Amino acid sequence: MGFGYAELRKVHRRQLKEMARAIKKRFPSSEFPRVADVAGGDGRLTSLLIKEGYRVTIIDPAGCKVKGSRVLKRKFLVRDAQDYDLLVGFYPCQASQKLLRAAKYKPVVFHPCKCRHHWPGGRDPRIEAQAFMKKQGVTYERDGSFIFHAWPNGFLT
Ligand SMILES: C[S@@+](CC[C@H](N)C(=O)[O-])C[C@H]1O[C@@H](n2cnc3c(N)ncnc32)[C@H](O)[C@@H]1O
Repeated sequence: MGFGYAELRKVHRRQLKEMARAIKKRFPSSEFPRVADVAGGDGRLTSLLIKEGYRVTIIDPAGCKVKGSRVLKRKFLVRDAQDYDLLVGFYPCQASQKLLRAAKYKPVVFHPCKCRHHWPGGRDPRIEAQAFMKKQGVTYERDGSFIFHAWPNGFLT
């Protein structure tokens, strides 16, 4: 039996809720109010974060405006990091490497997508993402099986 679109949406919904919870726990809106949802797409993660009190900007050439958010319809640039307290990305696809480069400047919470071709070594993206972060010299930790938190060395204790 195949894994259909409805099942995939269900898995994503669960993963998105798990990610919103992880963000809230580690990076509360009182300390990290300005969030960039990198490759935010139709704003599913953004909607959850707005409910938790964050001010969210979606940065995505195909981004959709959701109530209470701002949208920048363009590609994410590493220098965008300066305008936010926290950067998040759920399945950020082509923006993955830039998002992790930005972890040298601001904390990043991300859930890698499954596309191997977005990473240099072509292995499992979870492995590639960790190798990439080590190379960048940022501190990172895993949260559950898929979510990673990364931040500039010395930023958090
Ligand atoms: C798999 S979708 C993820 C969407 C959303 N995070 C979600 O899960 O609902 C990947 C998104 O990456 C966006 N994207 C591709 N290249 C990008 C870039 N360089 N900067 C920002 N967003 C990009 C696409 O437009 C698309 O919306």
